[in-house]
Amino acid sequence: MTCAIEVNHVNFRYEEFVMEDICMNLHRGEHKALIGLNGSGKTTLFKLILGLLEPLSGNILIFDRRLTRENLWEIRKDIGFLFQNPDDQLFAPTVWEDVAFGPRNLGLNEDEVAKRVEESLKFVGMEDYINRAVNQMSHGQAKRVALAGILAMQPKILLLDEAFTGLDFPMVQSIVEIISQLRREGISVLFTTHNRFFIENWADSVVAIDSGQIVFDGPTDQALCNQDVLRQMGNWDLLEKKMKETRL
Ligand SMILES: Nc1ncnc2c1ncn2[C@@H]1O[C@H](COP(=O)(O)OP(=O)(O)OP(=O)(O)O)[C@@H](O)[C@H]1O
Ligand SMILES: [Mg+2]
Repeated sequence: MTCAIEVNHVNFRYEEFVMEDICMNLHRGEHKALIGLNGSGKTTLFKLILGLLEPLSGNILIFDRRLTRENLWEIRKDIGFLFQNPDDQLFAPTVWEDVAFGPRNLGLNEDEVAKRVEESLKFVGMEDYINRAVNQMSHGQAKRVALAGILAMQPKILLLDEAFTGLDFPMVQSIVEIISQLRREGISVLFTTHNRFFIENWADSVVAIDSGQIVFDGPTDQALCNQDVLRQMGNWDLLEKKMKETRL
């Protein structure tokens, strides 16, 4: 079966931080959680998959096409990436212009661009903000707009880096609807989270990374009883018990 993403024996290093022999697959239509403690290498892996960083060795395939400097821009059209910090990806003067940027880059005509912008802003509940300057929004609003910008491009793969941190409950509810739609459309998703709720209820499978090394890759039910995975997620029951004790 063709994979959406195939990471083969990738090695990479920043000065201090080393990623060694990273192998993982994201199957077509699969929704996979990438988990790991702060600084374990999740965002770095996303940047490698997007070609923002280049591996020292090994290779990355997107729908069977090997990622190279030459085909980077072509391949990236299939991938929507939501950055951890939305300020890193909003840059046009207004919300409308920002969401229109991606579809315009795909070469769509202005009617189609307008249709996609309106639909995706409505989907994330930001249709009343079309003329707002992108630097005049709250963190959660900026995240919604960034998400709209990605959905408007109708990507085949989504990389979501802490997409739900800092979002209120109504927004998380809309996200759950977005996820159902992505499933119906067969879109493949790789998402990072520190929240057990999303791992248990959303992920088909889990890949866990610890200090630049993959320590688990498998179905969610197996992940939830694997010690290497649990170390990355933390023992919340124990923490809850301790918190209750301190209040006594
Ligand atoms: N530009 C950089 N130059 C040097 N080191 C970096 C750079 N960016 C990240 N690092 C280091 O690489 C390691 C992995 O960082 P990364 O951002 O991938 O972690 P993460 O798993 O996404 O963490 P978090 O959960 O906090 O988002 C960290 O030790 C970090 O300090
Ligand atoms: Mg990160």
